Amino acid sequence: MYKRNILITGGAGFIGSHVVRLFVNKYPEYRIINLDKLTYAGNLANLRDIEDKPNYRFVKMDICDFEGTLQLMREEKIDGIIHLAAESHVDRSIKDPFTFARTNVMGTLTLLQSAKLYWESCPEKYQGKLFYHISTDEVYGALEMTHPEGIEPPFSTRASSSSHEAYGNEFFVETTKYNPHSPYSASKASSDHFVRAYHDTYGMPVIVTNCSNNYGPYQFPEKLIPLFIHNIRQRKPLPVYGRGENVRDWLYVEDHARAIDTIFHRGRAAETYNIGGFNEWKNIDIVKTLIRTADRLLGRAEEEDMGLITYVADRLGHDMRYAIDSRKLQAELGWEPSLQFEEGIEKTVRWYLDNEEWVDNVTSGDYQRYYEEMYHLQK
Ligand code: NAD
Ligand code: DAU
Repeated sequence: MYKRNILITGGAGFIGSHVVRLFVNKYPEYRIINLDKLTYAGNLANLRDIEDKPNYRFVKMDICDFEGTLQLMREEKIDGIIHLAAESHVDRSIKDPFTFARTNVMGTLTLLQSAKLYWESCPEKYQGKLFYHISTDEVYGALEMTHPEGIEPPFSTRASSSSHEAYGNEFFVETTKYNPHSPYSASKASSDHFVRAYHDTYGMPVIVTNCSNNYGPYQFPEKLIPLFIHNIRQRKPLPVYGRGENVRDWLYVEDHARAIDTIFHRGRAAETYNIGGFNEWKNIDIVKTLIRTADRLLGRAEEEDMGLITYVADRLGHDMRYAIDSRKLQAELGWEPSLQFEEGIEKTVRWYLDNEEWVDNVTSGDYQRYYEEMYHLQK
């Protein structure tokens, strides 16, 4: 008998694998069910260190499978759901928006409806239950670059870089009006609305959190940081969109996982919390930092690979600036990021350089096939 039975969706992906690892190790009294379809972005290799733990079970399933998810919730007596499964890459959403609507909107709605049916059939109904939906700062739209050279920001955290700058006066707060621009952010915004609707209509206890850009180990190498580290190593071009002036707010993935743990246990139902580190960076400055760090770790001459920077056509509808104000979470629940940006980047570059085999395997698909054979998983 476990104290809690928690369903984590998307646990074989980047952030999900860090959340699963944290929960499995920190809470042996909880049973953790990781539900993942294993798309190109999901890899069981991300969880090899915990896959044999007695409180862990992996289930290969699509979140759009209504019968399957309902049956699983009944069978495992699920009382908490942390929902991360999603199509997450903006560039893919521009090419193939339908997949994003299917998984992010219909998949989230499917999970909500399964949870509703199962929880309403329990004697205690919604008592002790929580549907926790992981979302993004991109739903808020884009902020103005009122200070292209950067200014002293009004706030900082331990995650803020040593050369901490803000590129505007405005920040996303929990009450900022939704204004998504890409098919990805439109699909996430829609899913956020469905989650809140299940609270307002049926009384389901829900929480939504909106986080800034994550970085760290196990991120699929099509996103900026892992792709560029891989390319620097291989001495391949680094395709910077537009002029590289767009600003993102970066948070180390383990700090996001800790925030999820804090909010899952102590957050107030029906609330929204923004998660971020007050750590804004222009893309081009991140790229130069990656080159300097990788060149040093690879024993190459200083700045040897700056010539790899290649300016390419801009992303369609490219949002200019994201910047999260996470003071509500800090004030209410005492969460603070633990890792300063320069330390986090050093750790991340080192990890990708040390784990080139992981990068090759996840990109070639060999590992997915290997695990499917090992576990007799069906497509
Ligand atoms: P990811 O792409 O690395 O992982 C997504 C996971 O979901 C994969 O394991 C994939 O196999 C699984 N999945 C996809 N479609 C599925 C389906 N139909 N059924 C079951 N599983 C499916 O994504 P990530 O970067 O880890 O993001 C996780 C969540 O956090 C997403 O909801 C994303 O919107 C949100 N988020 C991400 C960031 C970021 O910087 N990466 C920031 C804020 C919020
Ligand atoms: O803000 C949170 C979001 O961060 C999450 O919701 C998304 O799931 C996650 O993918 C991430 O979205 P971004 O689009 O910001 O991440 P990405 O790594 O794709 O791009 C970061 C910035 O770098 C963005 O401004 C586009 C730029 N870029 C990206 C790639 C892949 C380049 O200039 N060149 C590239 O090749």
